Amino acid sequence: MSEETKSNNNINRIAVLCSGGDSPGMNCAIRAVVRTCLANDIEIFGIRRGYAGLLEGSQHQMDAASVGNILQKGGTILQTSRCPEFIKPEIRAEAAHILKRKNVDALIVIGGNGSFNGAWELHKEHGIPVVGIPGTIDNDIEGTDYSIGFDTAVQTAIEAVDKIRDTAHSHDRTFIVEVMGRKSPAIALHVGLCTGAENIIFPVQEEKEVDIDTIANDIKRGLKRGKGSSIIIASEGETEGLSHYVHNELLDKHKLDSRVCILGHIQRGGNPTARDRFIATQMGHLAVKSLLAGEKASVTAEQNGQVVLEKLENCLGKKFEVEEKYVEIVKTLSK
Ligand code: F6P
Repeated sequence: MSEETKSNNNINRIAVLCSGGDSPGMNCAIRAVVRTCLANDIEIFGIRRGYAGLLEGSQHQMDAASVGNILQKGGTILQTSRCPEFIKPEIRAEAAHILKRKNVDALIVIGGNGSFNGAWELHKEHGIPVVGIPGTIDNDIEGTDYSIGFDTAVQTAIEAVDKIRDTAHSHDRTFIVEVMGRKSPAIALHVGLCTGAENIIFPVQEEKEVDIDTIANDIKRGLKRGKGSSIIIASEGETEGLSHYVHNELLDKHKLDSRVCILGHIQRGGNPTARDRFIATQMGHLAVKSLLAGEKASVTAEQNGQVVLEKLENCLGKKFEVEEKYVEIVKTLSK
């Protein structure tokens, strides 16, 4: 018996793909999408390797068993890719043609704002109904308070910094720990606050924007009051490696030695936390229900603690939020 008697708005077959960097919890979303489709007698196809896989015609039908025993696993069973060519209208036309040829009535895209832009253009140009499910550890998508994977990535980084604290304390050392997030400050802010960091460096356009003197003065003030070790959390910025610059400047200008630890891709893996499972599962379910209700271009967003639908066009930008109240707490408590 179906979940409900339907008027499915001509949606009989849906395809789902992951796009951009993977994030823990994507599998929970895929499972929810597949099982919600099946409960509503909708055929569901998985597309491997994101938009690149779509262009290669890589689609397979999914059943209940194909998403068994996956919700606790990191990564994505569908795999993912970055597909810069999707920016070209003629490439999107090819993708639309493939979807139509395979009788796919709607597409669900799990990814970040770049992936959502691709979905939005595909919808505008070719009328294909699309839903975005926010999935990126960076938590930087406009229109949603949360994106799947952020909590797990933060937890992974916190556990790593806790371990670094042990050795930092034993050796009376300063560590610069670089976290992911590209242009987003979200991971650095949360990790800094949760690990009692002495300083947080938010994403900068150019290295010289980093206020080395203030960081050095904070370290020296700590040393004066008998604090031997310090942790500085550095956002990676556009490309990883900013922490090496900070290390060199502290040494050259202030004769302060430090060690660098770039956490890198371990932040993208691992079993999703309860928060990621909880949100991803609701988002996957809502994505399908919204298509069946006739929505044409939306995103399953978290707003004020609830999973709701937001217009896709409101979720195309990147947000950059450094909430001063948290920065203030970090500064106050590390003095
Ligand atoms: O997916 C987001 C992210 O992990 C960023 O935090 C990071 O800068 C980037 O992806 C790394 O991308 P890639 O895995 O393609 O090197």
